[in-house]
Amino acid sequence: MKFVAIVGSLKKQSLNRKLAAYIQERYKEKADIEILPIEKLPFYSEDEELNPPSIVTDIKKKIADSDGIIIATPEYNHSIPGVLKNALDWFSRVDRVMVGKPVMIVGGSPGILGTVRAQVHLRQILNSPGISALVLPGNEVFVGGLHEKLDESGHLTHEPTSQFLDGVMDNFQKWVERTKGF
Ligand code: FNR
Repeated sequence: MKFVAIVGSLKKQSLNRKLAAYIQERYKEKADIEILPIEKLPFYSEDEELNPPSIVTDIKKKIADSDGIIIATPEYNHSIPGVLKNALDWFSRVDRVMVGKPVMIVGGSPGILGTVRAQVHLRQILNSPGISALVLPGNEVFVGGLHEKLDESGHLTHEPTSQFLDGVMDNFQKWVERTKGF
């Protein structure tokens, strides 16, 4: 399977980028996962959407060609970061490349709630008409205390979290098969 991943953080030492990279490496036998460079997208403007910069077209094509999308989101002020919302706004317009695409959401934070509130918002956003993604039901991956669960090389050392992720990834792959042709 071919997946793309979207990370809602520009921080070099982003915990969520490390989590996405860990997922990319851990499941490389099951899926080819490419992390998309959404940080290169300009701010969305309705004036630009019919003739956007090539980076917009390139990233949208990768989404359109993928079997599914993994989103790793931080929580900023009880919602998703603007950089992620900006990307989703681009993807929601013109060719609407996320319509009918399976999506798996993960997120982590140093705090105990592990992005719960951001993910609740994200599910609502992904259900909007322009996006209409097929978000994997249940399978909520909220990793609290993520900074203590990653080692120097970005490896997730907390075995219960890794095992939980294994189950979620299996469920996501089944979800991708089940929703094909929707
Ligand atoms: C945060 N952080 C945060 N954490 C949280 O649990 N709830 C929140 O509402 C917020 N709000 C928030 C706003 C802003 C502007 C920043 C910079 C940070 C802390 C956040 O969880 C922490 O910085 C994470 O490490 C961010 O994820 P990445 O960038 O490491 O992936």
